[in-house]
Amino acid sequence: MNTLSSPSERLARPERPTAEEVAAQVVAAAVWAPSVHNTQPWWFRAGGQEISLYADATRQLMVADPGGREMTISCGAALFTARLALRSLGYIPETRVLPDPDQPLLIARVSWQRRADPTEYERQLFRWVLQRRTHRGGFGPLPLAPELLTALQGGAERDGAMLHIITGEGSRAALAGVVETAERAMRLDDAYVQELAKWVSPPGSTRADGVPAIAYPALPEHTDPYFPGRDFAHGHGWGLPGFSFGMAARSAGAVCLLMTVEDRPADWVNAGQALQRMLLTSATCGVAAALHSQPLELPWLREYIRSHWGNGIYPQLLLRLGTVIQTAASVRRQPGSVLKASGGEQP
Ligand SMILES: Cc1cc2nc3c(=O)[nH]c(=O)nc-3n(C[C@H](O)[C@H](O)[C@H](O)COP(=O)(O)O)c2cc1C
Repeated sequence: MNTLSSPSERLARPERPTAEEVAAQVVAAAVWAPSVHNTQPWWFRAGGQEISLYADATRQLMVADPGGREMTISCGAALFTARLALRSLGYIPETRVLPDPDQPLLIARVSWQRRADPTEYERQLFRWVLQRRTHRGGFGPLPLAPELLTALQGGAERDGAMLHIITGEGSRAALAGVVETAERAMRLDDAYVQELAKWVSPPGSTRADGVPAIAYPALPEHTDPYFPGRDFAHGHGWGLPGFSFGMAARSAGAVCLLMTVEDRPADWVNAGQALQRMLLTSATCGVAAALHSQPLELPWLREYIRSHWGNGIYPQLLLRLGTVIQTAASVRRQPGSVLKASGGEQP
């Protein structure tokens, strides 16, 4: 479902796109942002040269995410993608995050008036919006280039977040243990299990949201240290075959915590923007990310991570980065189903 034309194709067109065409292109890109359980908790309203991005609270995970933190991070990732799409069209986005205290679900308004050609970095990032995929498993043995990790840390700071790389085998193993504790606790909790089941679909499903069976391995892949993934298949035997590399554990990759100094909705938006910048920057270097939010959904484990690894600042997401040949795929709702013209009601 590739509805995005390349920046060079668009810039080569003599006529400027209309505001409606720009909004359609921007939303067609933004929907490919990552979101927790692929809930895609967003909708957009377009009017004139402005798009408003709203969180869709009907898609919030009320058990795993009662405060809406992960929903807002997901919307932040969509916001970064929308801004990047405007840059790829040669516009300079002007963004107001959480512009109206009376409308907490209004995540941002983005307008475009001025023009400037996209930079090579922006073009490169944009190329990966549709192709980037979440990885679920181990990575190749080679360590990542230190330059890439430094660039990712600088990128996170640009978006008001911080990327903390966890080094030292003891520390990595301890953090893996925290993920395992969270995963075990969730598997024993009926409310979590039932909520996750609502966002997972069986093989062959035509559903356009949630986590499809083509997105994760049928046999969980062991990593060293072991960072267990979510139990999407829940005993059904669903998932991609042929994903496992035998019994030997593969590398867990570079383990990182994306953090913010405060823990307000604006910080969650920042974390989401930083996350998408990081995922796309990594993708341009052939590096994929595995995301683990299990321990951050349990307040006692989030607090434990904050005090042990965060120096008191707030962990928003745990990621592992590495090189891999990816076979996973994903799905999205049609952009038209989440875009309303000015004055239109929430879809
Ligand atoms: C806030 C947030 C938390 C996430 N947590 C997890 C997680 O714990 N485990 C996982 O496998 N994927 C996690 N993901 C990745 C989503 O499942 C993924 O983005 C979604 O299924 C869409 O797939 P894609 O990223 O391949 O396009 C998370 C994503 C976000 C934005």
